[in-house]
Amino acid sequence: MEILKTKSLMQEWARAKKKNSKTISFVPTMGYLHQGHISLLEKGKPLCDELVLSIFVNPSQFGPNEDLDAYPTDMENDLRLAEAAGVTAVFLPQKQDIYPQDYQTRISLDSLPHHLCGKCRPVHFGGVATVVTKLFNIVMPDVAIFGKKDYQQFQIIRRMTLDLDFDIEILGGEIVREPDGLAMSSRNAYLTADQRESALSLSRSVRKAAQAVARGEKNPGVIQTEITAFIQSFPQTSIDYISFCDPATLEPVKIIDKQILVALAVRVGKTRLIDNLLIDPPR
Ligand code: PAF
Repeated sequence: MEILKTKSLMQEWARAKKKNSKTISFVPTMGYLHQGHISLLEKGKPLCDELVLSIFVNPSQFGPNEDLDAYPTDMENDLRLAEAAGVTAVFLPQKQDIYPQDYQTRISLDSLPHHLCGKCRPVHFGGVATVVTKLFNIVMPDVAIFGKKDYQQFQIIRRMTLDLDFDIEILGGEIVREPDGLAMSSRNAYLTADQRESALSLSRSVRKAAQAVARGEKNPGVIQTEITAFIQSFPQTSIDYISFCDPATLEPVKIIDKQILVALAVRVGKTRLIDNLLIDPPR
């Protein structure tokens, strides 16, 4: 496994692979790898000749009061897991290499970033779209894989890839959950034992929503009221949003008569967690 610490080394490596007609699968991450990331690597591994992992905690996707400085890292463990997953190159850029002093370009999308998490994280998706664009240009992948726990991010990257004519296939990886249902996230590391219990309210809520739809409930408002009370019954929870929306546009739906996405963000103590589920109404 090669470890490439600068943009130019990464580009040189990718160019050499392309010259030899090798294809590249790519999994961008911010590190502190867990089984969710590993599942993305496992998905990418058989698809191409090479498998690249990037680890970069991207400052431009964090707002002023977010957890950029506290974001967990464990490079030694990440590299061990990457090697075991069959990664052939790890890209570990430094901030200055990605955003040099005079840097001033940012990617923006018209509507997708303004729903769900975008409402309380106004700079987040611009930062994600920008860094992913740069990583695509540097790593030159044929296929890139993103986790669907960040469903909005996944849709934004898909849209951006189409809109900007990147010749890259974007694939989504399913949410990987702990045995009790908690969606895996690097931010779970922030939770105390009590908060870990309260964090289960998210996965249980999306399951409750699916059960309500399966019972024939078509009114998102009714389910939202039920879930809100359910989450509030757990200590230290504060709801950012619960949304019943169109899976492609992320626009809220008024009636559940086709597949919907239920997505939610809840703060548990100071930790903001997200979860989602695609739900089909009964036929
Ligand atoms: O999902 C993430 O870890 C990040 O948002 C990404 C895609 C690596 C961009 O920084």
